[in-house]
Amino acid sequence: MAASKPRALAAAAASYLFIVSAAPTKTAVECTGSFEPVSAADYVAAINPGWNLGNTLDATPDEGSWNNPPVQATTFDDVKAAGFKSVRIPVTYTHHFTGESPDWTVDPDWLQRVEDVVDMALERDLYVITNVHHDSWEWADVTQPGANLTMIEEKIYRAWVQIGEKLGCKSSLVAFEPINEPPAETAEHGAELNKINELFLQALAESGGFNTQRVVTLVGGAMDSMKTSQWFEAPTGYDNPWAIQYHYYSPYDFIFSAWGKTILSTDDLAAIEADLTNIRNNFTDVPLVLGEFDASPLNTEPAARRRYTDLVVRTAAALNTAVVIWDNGLDHLDRETQTWKDPHSLSILMNAAEGTPNSFADATTDAYATSQSSSAYVFHKVGDAVEDYTVSLLLNGNTLDSIAVDGTDGETLAAGADYSVTADGGVLLTTEFLGRHVSAGAEAEPGSKANLTLSFSAGATAGVEIVQWDVPVLESSSSKAVAGADLLIPITFKGLKHPAAVKMLRSDGVYLFDDWTQYLGPLQAAYGTYNGQWNWLGDNLVLTSATVDAVITAGVDTTFTFDFFPRVPGNSVNYTLTV
Ligand SMILES: *[C@@H]1O[C@H](CO)[C@@H](O)[C@H](O)[C@H]1NC(C)=O
Ligand SMILES: *[C@@H]1O[C@H](CO)[C@@H](O)[C@H](O)[C@H]1NC(C)=O
Ligand SMILES: *[C@@H]1O[C@H](CO)[C@@H](O)[C@H](O)[C@H]1NC(C)=O
Ligand SMILES: *[C@@H]1O[C@H](CO)[C@@H](O)[C@H](O)[C@H]1NC(C)=O
Repeated sequence: MAASKPRALAAAAASYLFIVSAAPTKTAVECTGSFEPVSAADYVAAINPGWNLGNTLDATPDEGSWNNPPVQATTFDDVKAAGFKSVRIPVTYTHHFTGESPDWTVDPDWLQRVEDVVDMALERDLYVITNVHHDSWEWADVTQPGANLTMIEEKIYRAWVQIGEKLGCKSSLVAFEPINEPPAETAEHGAELNKINELFLQALAESGGFNTQRVVTLVGGAMDSMKTSQWFEAPTGYDNPWAIQYHYYSPYDFIFSAWGKTILSTDDLAAIEADLTNIRNNFTDVPLVLGEFDASPLNTEPAARRRYTDLVVRTAAALNTAVVIWDNGLDHLDRETQTWKDPHSLSILMNAAEGTPNSFADATTDAYATSQSSSAYVFHKVGDAVEDYTVSLLLNGNTLDSIAVDGTDGETLAAGADYSVTADGGVLLTTEFLGRHVSAGAEAEPGSKANLTLSFSAGATAGVEIVQWDVPVLESSSSKAVAGADLLIPITFKGLKHPAAVKMLRSDGVYLFDDWTQYLGPLQAAYGTYNGQWNWLGDNLVLTSATVDAVITAGVDTTFTFDFFPRVPGNSVNYTLTV
């Protein structure tokens, strides 16, 4: 398997590699069973799609330290039942080294825990990719000024000898990945990571077992598709079947709800295809794994999210690239209740991975629009007359089969009386049908009224939520900024129970953050970023301490305009922080 990229480093490879001479020599692992070798191409084809056990064994300092309790075997049952073929098990070793240089001994209990979790997945016939994870920024960051490359190389080598010894006799379902998202800013950093890929392979060879026959997914700078394309050089002199793994969290503003972004623009849609195609064209003969990507139901708008999931997974599949969705434990699978946060996105992922066309709701794609629509919802404003309402669909060649109301009585809509298909493939919901779920009277309660599941001739189901909304009401509209803490602002939501985006404008007209956003559309200029700058918590809006502190630093009163869904003029509230 050869990369289409020139391999200038190949000849030099042998000379710069070294055996860590000071390392204690341990007998390489010998296995009793047999190993069924698999090519990297077959491996990658078989693991699609996969799921990440995020924020679990990779949490620091320990499993259970972040938002997930220690992993339970039943979680892998849920993952398997959903249709996933593989799991990526990220592991951080930083806080589990019990020895110093040159041995870098890893706590045997920790290695045992890693093996036990790997076995939980293997017992369910799931493929497993495991790695060395947040160590990339904890001690293995080659971009740090004065980084001790000798230490980094020695430590990564020793870590992999020990992991290799522990997992060396596992079946060919298990693949290894040297390190997660190693930072790289320059070609020199890229070259150092190429060396780390080779040291990793060398350590596997030393560790014994079946490790020289095992599939590996090698990495380039930050596992970024562009940096990998620029700087990755294939290792030579090793037998392991290898693929390249990269990660994709683009467009950044959409994925992270930055700068008021709640849609995918036509440019975004084109860029996603171009990005995935770019790395494929750089490595025409190398099996590729998109080992992390994630549009989370926590913060992304559902119509845009489902279209995103379809586009990424479908494009990857067409480019012979396996996908492994990131799940930090809050995003997709609720491990406690064993339910998936957005079953429609999940269904889209499963179908797109197989190349089956999906149908889903349409939404605004104009980055400069002054209001936005989404057919993942029927938005009915409190007090408005109930009228026929058309939901726009992107059918992608399918036809609508049926519409059902989720839950309870299992109401199925009658074609004609309740809905009809429009000439352009949309669905017109009749006044009669909608009148059973929303009401025109001023007394009608706002909130979520029903969820519809649309089924098609092929592919995933589509979800449409009927929401009766009004403008939310704040308990108070201003306060004096107090440094050092998040500010919670009590609110009565009247529709969906979270904001869409937040504009942050000082009274002197200056943007509180990121003046450059003036070049974005009207629903993004002067807007802040979810989580870092704003959030919500139950029936409270949240301005983070970073935002409050920015107001104090600016010394200017600042008005925060919280927008809600639907993003239409008037569906927002103002809150002013004074100094
Ligand atoms: C760099 O790491 C090596 C190997 O761990 C160690 O021997 C050496 O003392 C370190 N150098 C510095 C400057 O810390
Ligand atoms: C490979 O990737 C680089 C960097 O992203 C890009 O400039 C170049 O056009 C790509 N090459 C091919 C053949 O697509
Ligand atoms: C519709 O689904 C959403 C998201 O899953 C949920 O929050 C809401 O409560 C549901 N609405 C009804 C009426 O069940
Ligand atoms: C909210 O504040 C903005 C200025 O930041 C102002 O243009 C707008 O009129 C205000 N809206 C309301 C309802 O007061």
